[in-house]
Amino acid sequence: MMAASNTATKQKSFTDCRGVPVSYPDTKAIEGLERAIIMSLSFRGDAIAEINKVLNEHPDFIMGWLFKAGWLTQSMETRIYDLMVKSLGEAEKRLKTANDREIGHYEAVRAWVNGDFFGAVQKWEAVLVKYPRDLLAMELVHYADVLLGDIAGQRDVVARSSTLWDESVPGYEFVLGFYAFGLEENRDFSHAEQLARQALAIRPDHPYAVHAVAHVMEMRGRQTGGVRFMKERANKWGTSNFANHLWWHTALYHLDIEQYDKVYNIFDTHLDSRQKDGNKYEELDASALLWRINLVGQDSGDRWKHLADKWEPAAQDTLYAFNDVHAMLTFVSDDRVDAQNELLSANERYLESASDANVAMSREIGMPFCLAMRDFKNEHYGDCVDRLLPVRYMTHRLGGSFAQRDIIGWTLLEAALRARRFDLALALANERTALKPTSAQNWRAVARAFKGLGDSSNADRATAKAQSLIHA
Ligand SMILES: [Fe+2]
Repeated sequence: MMAASNTATKQKSFTDCRGVPVSYPDTKAIEGLERAIIMSLSFRGDAIAEINKVLNEHPDFIMGWLFKAGWLTQSMETRIYDLMVKSLGEAEKRLKTANDREIGHYEAVRAWVNGDFFGAVQKWEAVLVKYPRDLLAMELVHYADVLLGDIAGQRDVVARSSTLWDESVPGYEFVLGFYAFGLEENRDFSHAEQLARQALAIRPDHPYAVHAVAHVMEMRGRQTGGVRFMKERANKWGTSNFANHLWWHTALYHLDIEQYDKVYNIFDTHLDSRQKDGNKYEELDASALLWRINLVGQDSGDRWKHLADKWEPAAQDTLYAFNDVHAMLTFVSDDRVDAQNELLSANERYLESASDANVAMSREIGMPFCLAMRDFKNEHYGDCVDRLLPVRYMTHRLGGSFAQRDIIGWTLLEAALRARRFDLALALANERTALKPTSAQNWRAVARAFKGLGDSSNADRATAKAQSLIHA
């Protein structure tokens, strides 16, 4: 922080509103960048369109180009790759005028473009160590850590600068939101909820803080309270770019207590993007919810078809294993054998030749899960179990959240039940019930396992417990 403060003293007009140095000497440009950063943090508006307006007027504003390139790293889509590389190229042309912070941002995105996602995080972290109030660097590290499955990193990137932030610093509510989510993923639920609610007190329209509370309630099994919390605030977050994911969270509460009509209603109203362009993030949530609906034996109608249509052009992307897994969910569920084979063979070729950061994610978790889903759909349930059992405690390497990756554990349990491996199924169901005893679905699985083992007394008890939770 000393470096930022010293620079602020010497070059007051060349810093942002948090005292972080900016080489381009134009207050209007710096304010424009701040608007774009806040849009990205608050999931409001179009941050790329906003920075484009600034760059049209100020083409030599290197930090504007670096924001654009940096923010685009987070979309994990091949269709934006050219734009990201071009933005980085524009920044590169102006490196002679850059300060050390900007060179750090440049090197981070350069590493990302080269496929070294973990190296990029290290570069952004180095910027943040020197400039702890660089909110953009913190945002990019936090989100990248979520994408890469670095659970401690999601929390500690905020903790490292914790004594340098308070309510007097613009953007503090976003820092609280990041820390709340990081704490939640590290199972520090009470502290997470406390900080997320503090963030919401500062800015009620803060989707990522709502999200942190949503995760706490999901992990703690507070379904009824979760539904209430989300619905009371939906008028605030419902128009944000993050709304679909928050509706997905709301649907999970309903699913847990077997309120299927409400699950379908949320899907059809908020997650079904057949009339919209949609983006990968929306299709991820929609696919993951439909798979869960099928896991509990509910019909999904024709909902898979349009989702598979949306994923099919990305079958050979091999950009991000987390995407591939969700693409495979749709191909398997809509019986698209050619698309399944395209995805699997593209990944096999990629694993043989590539050396980027996604290789390990794909090899260790992505491919085993893709193959396990195909086994599941083909009713080779024993094979599905054998593929998932060895990797179940390594799934964080796929990225995403515990709530998102729970689809893997749930699929494993359902496969064990259908494979009639009831002793294993009981053990897996017990694990889930111990962690979330308020889930009717977990008790249903316990009941089915006991029934398979011939223990009707315990099966009846578990069924009664499930019934009691539905009416709770
Ligand atoms: Fe989430």
